[in-house]
Amino acid sequence: MRYEVQTRLIKEALAAIEAGRPPLAESFTRNDPAVYTSREWAAREQKTLFHEYPIVAGFSSQIRSPGDYITDELGPTPILVVRNEQGELRAFANICRHRGSRLAHGCGRAGARFVCPYHAWSYDTDGRLRAIPDDYGFAGLDRVSHSLIRFPVAERYGMVWVAPRAEAGCDIDAHLGGLGADLETYGLEHFELRERRVVRRRMNWKLVSDTFWEAYHIKFLHRTTIAPIFVRNLALFEPFGLCHRLIGIRASIEKLRGVAPERWDLLPHATILMNLFPNTVFVMQSDHAEAYRIFPAPDNPAESITEINVLGPAGAVADRYDRRWGVAGGPGWDKVMELLVGVVEQDFEIGETIQRNFASGAASGVVYGRYEPALEHFHESIRVALGE
Ligand code: FES
Ligand SMILES: [Fe+2]
Repeated sequence: MRYEVQTRLIKEALAAIEAGRPPLAESFTRNDPAVYTSREWAAREQKTLFHEYPIVAGFSSQIRSPGDYITDELGPTPILVVRNEQGELRAFANICRHRGSRLAHGCGRAGARFVCPYHAWSYDTDGRLRAIPDDYGFAGLDRVSHSLIRFPVAERYGMVWVAPRAEAGCDIDAHLGGLGADLETYGLEHFELRERRVVRRRMNWKLVSDTFWEAYHIKFLHRTTIAPIFVRNLALFEPFGLCHRLIGIRASIEKLRGVAPERWDLLPHATILMNLFPNTVFVMQSDHAEAYRIFPAPDNPAESITEINVLGPAGAVADRYDRRWGVAGGPGWDKVMELLVGVVEQDFEIGETIQRNFASGAASGVVYGRYEPALEHFHESIRVALGE
């Protein structure tokens, strides 16, 4: 984060602590629980949010050399991303043009060709159909029009973004609405993916996201875990187009009162959360980053699949960060994952009860308080994207 922005936010945080209350939106707002339960609404979200917008499909560190590939099976469109011979990324539907088999699974090094496991049609890293075994059975078939279906792809801020529809754009900075200026300062292209875990929960994907968008619950739900390190109910919100940023403030920020502003640094005293619209929650901590890629389960608004990723600074940027987790003898990245899963599990348990309560039909609405504007913005952005 740029220095001027950090100082502005630190001043806001210190002022809020002095005033004894967080910054407040104009009024509280309401939302309709049907957005978590309706199949019709879920189908609209799937068609628009998960096809028309760039979705984070993976991380640069997974795919650094020509021939490296990743797949993404969590969204409605199976995606294959590969670095071609020239070092450029190519994204495709992970669907063989013969009879529709998945071409690749997981991630790894493909080399120069993808060979379909079913009948061994093969494609190069630009998606061109290169070989058909016993090809006399397909005499006259136009190979060019049977190349893999290509999608727009971009690599920005250490992340690989794919818009899973050929006509959609992949202008990440436009999509981030100014949040890129923040992301740029963390050197995320040098971060390595350290840990990855997939959790399936019986709650709508937005309920997973919602758990990140206020600091109000921390004092209560997380009283035994993270509550003691945060200032009660203090988070600083800022919208960036359809995306937004929410900063949880640690009690340690008080120490900065005795430090000259030229030496202020926000990150050790904050958790910086960003919604990369629609479905990636990106979290900057003082010593690592977390990315939660949250997807609706196919055909079921009451279920979601979340991929939790821990990313650690490496190489050129590592020295800028507190490296207590990464160094030999430290608790290790698996420990970081265990700690954060311990916290989010508390959120997910509540989320599943909320989902069941909404499914009962007995809940008439939810209310977002004046210190919960990030929730309002997240849901308003979805309504805007859906043309509501
Ligand atoms: S489905 Fe891929 S070669 Fe037949
Ligand atoms: Fe939480």
